Amino acid sequence: MQTISIIGGTGELGSGLALRWAKAGLPVIIGSRDADRAAEAANALNKLAGNDLARGMDNLAAAEAGDIVVMTVKFSHHRATLEQLKPALAGKILVDTTVPLVPPKVARVQLPAEGCAALIAQKILGDETTVVSAFQNVSAASLQHDNGPKSDVLVAGDDPDARETIVQLSNAAGYKGWHAGPLANSAATEALTSVLIFINKRYKSNHTGIAISGVDH
Ligand SMILES: NC(=O)c1ccc[n+]([C@@H]2O[C@H](COP(=O)([O-])OP(=O)(O)OC[C@H]3O[C@@H](n4cnc5c(N)ncnc54)[C@H](OP(=O)(O)O)[C@@H]3O)[C@@H](O)[C@H]2O)c1
Repeated sequence: MQTISIIGGTGELGSGLALRWAKAGLPVIIGSRDADRAAEAANALNKLAGNDLARGMDNLAAAEAGDIVVMTVKFSHHRATLEQLKPALAGKILVDTTVPLVPPKVARVQLPAEGCAALIAQKILGDETTVVSAFQNVSAASLQHDNGPKSDVLVAGDDPDARETIVQLSNAAGYKGWHAGPLANSAATEALTSVLIFINKRYKSNHTGIAISGVDH
C-alpha cells in the first residue's frame, strides 16, 4: 500500500486529510519543520483514527519516506519548502493543495503572474516530479466530521495516470474526485477558493464547497 506523506501535516488542512486517510486504512506520515511536533500530531491522530497508521517526521524525512507527497503549507512558504524538498521529490507525485491567497483580501481572486501555485510548483521541481493539484476547494473544517458537508475535488495534472491516482485518493478521503484537465486548469480551482471564502463570509459558514452537476459519476 502506498504511503502518503503530508508536508505541513500539523496544520488545518493537512491534519484533516491525514485523519481521513488514516481512517480509510492508508499509512500516513505527518511532516513538520519539527520532528517532535510531527510525532505528537501522529500520536493524536492514531488515537482519533483508532489505529496505528500514522507516523511523524520532519518534512524532509517525510518527503523521502512517502510514495505520494501532499503539500499543505501556506503560499508564503510554498517556494522555500519546495526548494528544500526538491531532491526528495524526484520520481514522485507531489499533490499541491496551495491556494495563492494574498492577505488581507483573501475573498478576492489574485492569482500569481506565473498562472497559479501548481504551475509554480512544477517549475520549481522540474520534470522529475509530477505535480497534481487537488483539495483547494475542501474546507479543513469539513474534514473533521465524517457526516459533514462534502465538496467535490477537482484534480488537475498533465499526467492522466497520476491524476487518476489522486482522484482515487480523494475518494478514499470520502470526497468525490474529478479529472479536471491539465495542471494549468488549477488556476480555476485555486481562484474558486476565494469565491468560496466570499460565500462563507456572506452566508455565515466555514465549510462551503463545490459539487459538479449534470453527469453521473
Ligand atoms: N485551511 C483550509 O481550509 C484549506 C482549504 C483548502 C486549501 N488550503 C491550503 O492548504 C495549505 C495549508 O493551509 P492551512 O490552513 O492548513 O495552513 P496552516 O494550518 O496555517 O499551516 C500548515 C502548516 O504549515 C507549517 N508552517 C508554518 N510556517 C511555516 C514556514 N515558515 N515554513 C514551512 N512550513 C510552515 C506549519 O507546520 P509546522 O509548524 O509543524 O512545520 C503548519 O501546521 C494552504 O496553502 C491553503 O491555501 C487550506
